[in-house]
Parts: sequence; structure tokens; C-alpha cells
Amino acid sequence: MSAVPLVVFNNGHTCPVIGLGTWKSKPGEVTQAVKDAIDIGYRHIDCAHIYGNEKEVGEALKAKFDEGVVKRRLDQLATPLSRISSLYVPTEGLGAYPKADIFVTSKLWCTSHRPDLVEAAVKTSLADLGLDYLDLYLIHWPQAYKEGEDNFPVDEQGKAIPSAVDYVDTWKAMEGLVDKGLVKSIGISNFNKKQIDRVVEAARIKPAVNQIEVHPYLNQEKLFEHCKSLGIVVTAYSPLGSPDRPWAKPGDPTLMEDERLKVVAAKHNKTVAQVLIRYAIERGMIVIPKSVTRSRIEQNFQVFDFQLSADELQAVAALECNGRLCSMGDVHHPDYPFHDEF
Ligand SMILES: NC(=O)c1ccc[n+]([C@@H]2O[C@H](COP(=O)([O-])OP(=O)(O)OC[C@H]3O[C@@H](n4cnc5c(N)ncnc54)[C@H](OP(=O)(O)O)[C@@H]3O)[C@@H](O)[C@H]2O)c1
Ligand SMILES: *[C@@H]1O[C@H](CO)[C@@H](O)[C@H](O)[C@H]1NC(C)=O
Repeated sequence: MSAVPLVVFNNGHTCPVIGLGTWKSKPGEVTQAVKDAIDIGYRHIDCAHIYGNEKEVGEALKAKFDEGVVKRRLDQLATPLSRISSLYVPTEGLGAYPKADIFVTSKLWCTSHRPDLVEAAVKTSLADLGLDYLDLYLIHWPQAYKEGEDNFPVDEQGKAIPSAVDYVDTWKAMEGLVDKGLVKSIGISNFNKKQIDRVVEAARIKPAVNQIEVHPYLNQEKLFEHCKSLGIVVTAYSPLGSPDRPWAKPGDPTLMEDERLKVVAAKHNKTVAQVLIRYAIERGMIVIPKSVTRSRIEQNFQVFDFQLSADELQAVAALECNGRLCSMGDVHHPDYPFHDEF
């Protein structure tokens, strides 16, 4: 099994370019999925409190720590071992992630944005995952919701109830988690250009990552370029078009069935899923495909033995159609991120 290529953050920490997504992975499936992924060679798991399965992810991590397959923490000063020439690297080196280490991300939910709630929230995720620090902690969405037990508080009309907390103040609490050693890197998710700029302006510790939806139907060229210009790495979520998203309707376009992508895949004797993952990696993004199916988890990792040509990259990019799949629907929220052009 070969080591996973890595991306270097603006703070010097490193992150494997491919990670396993865990949204919608049922508690009864996710433990096996994470164990399989680690056995196959994944060294990066993308989690979130709101996914409701961090305890079960933690069980898999514990099993692999106990078996001695992975441990914490070796990523610092990883020496570059191999290079993929077409990979954009945000800072300088592309190397290989230490085979024995594992990178774990979690995310702060919208009801815990109030600065005094942030530390308790990360500690809940840490306890569930069975870790004493996270490699990366993200503000899951810019929108703050009314604090309390209800993760999706809504009013009588069904509209999300905002909290008055400014995500810039949440960011300052996130910085405190780095100071305390609870997290190695911090970042944001689903932030638009203006929101990123506000955070960066106020930040003592710059965001390492913006995790956003990216795939050929929403290729995010402008936001990606903006993040690059700030030294912020983009992680591409829903890279396969999230066919298991709960709000999918019959007749919705399905990315993995796109004939234009099938042509590219056939040329390389690869699946469309592999082309989609490779597309993100070749642009210089981190990518986090989700699966609970061992054969797919394995297939999605077999993306380091082929390369898309410049023409193919262009043809894939041309599928852009503003095809956003994930938005939370809370368009009335003052911090809803997707009204702006990008
Ligand atoms: N920050 C955010 O707000 C945010 C939002 C969305 C997602 N995310 C993260 O990004 C991850 C990935 O996004 P996603 O879960 O929305 O969708 P995705 O990874 O684009 O697609 C997952 C779906 O594709 C199927 N699949 C996986 N590999 C396949 C293959 N090789 N061939 C055919 N089907 C395949 C999976 O099925 P099986 O599992 O049944 O195999 C599952 O139904 C999430 O799990 C989560 O960690 C973050
Ligand atoms: C195509 O890929 C499959 C699955 O990875 C493999 O079994 C087969 O040998 C490949 N065929 C060619 C012609 O490379």
C-alpha cells in the first residue's frame, strides 16, 4: 500500500489529499467503513457532530489504534517523497502522509457558535471520537442558529431561527482552541467570499481550509481562486454529486451518470467516480468522497495511477451549470452564504 499524497496548510501542518466522508453513514455502518478505509490506506476521515455518528467513528479509530495500524501524531515535518506534477500545492511541498498517522476533521454545529459554547462543543466531539485533539476543526456553516438542544430550531413558519452571534466572534473562540492544543488547525466551511474576507481580516490565526461543495456541475472556480490567493486550501465535498442526499428527487441530474464523464472514464479504464475524485485532486483540492461500501471505498482510493489531460480537465470543467446540491435552505438567515455570486 502506498502512502497518500498530502497538501501543506498555511500553518505547516499536512493533510492527506483524500479523506473518507461520513455524512449519512449510519451509525451501524460507519464503524466498518472507517476500519475498511484505514485498512485500504485512507489516512483522513471527515466527521461532524451533526452527522450523529462520531461515537461510531471513534470505535473504528480505537480499533485501529489498538491494532497499531495508525497512531497520533507524525505529520509534522513530513518529508516530500513523491510528486504529482499537475497537482497545485497551496504552499510548497507535496509529499506523502506518514503511513502510520491519521488526520481527523470535525465541525462546529450552528447552535454552538456563541463563543462560550465552542470549547464544550469541540470537547463533545473529542470525547465521542476518543481523541485528545483534532487535526482540523471547521465552522460547519456561517449561519448561527438559536442555541439549545434543537439542532434545527425553526419558527412557526418553519424558518430557521438565527442567533445574533457573529461568525467572526466564533472564529476568535476557534483560535482559542488552537492555543489550548485541542485542535491543530482551524477552518471554515460553506463560507462565501465576503464571509471569508471578514474572517481573514479579523483573524490572528488564518483559516487553513474552506470546505465547500465542488464537482463539475459546481466547479467553484472563482471561490477556489480567491481561497488560493489567501493561502486557504479548498476541500471539495459532495465530489460525486451526493446521490444519497436526503432531498434528492427523481429526475434530478445525476453526476455519476453523465455520459460526457463516462467517455472520459472509459478512456482511462476508470469509473466516473474515480474521474470525479481525480478532477478535484488535479485542481489542488482535498477531496472527501463518502461511501460505506468496501468495494467503493477501495475504488475511490485508486486514483493515483492515472492523470487527466489538459483537454479532459477542460471538458470536465465545461459541465459547470451552477448545480448546487447542498444549501440548508435557510435563505432568510442574514448569514446565508449563497445569495452572492460566489
Ligand atoms: N461541510 C459541509 O457542509 C458538507 C456537506 C456535504 C458533505 N460534506 C462531507 O463530504 C462528504 C462527501 O459528500 P456527500 O456524502 O454529500 O456525497 P458524495 O461523496 O458525493 O457521494 C456519496 C454517495 O455516493 C455513493 N458512492 C460512493 N462511491 C461510489 C462509487 N465509487 N460508485 C458509485 N457510487 C458511489 C455512496 O454510496 P454508498 O455509501 O452507499 O456506497 C453515497 O451514496 C460527506 O460525507 C461529508 O463528510 C460536508
Ligand atoms: C480495467 O480496469 C479493471 C478494473 O480495475 C481491470 O481489472 C482491467 O484489467 C483493466 N483493463 C485494462 C485493459 O487495463
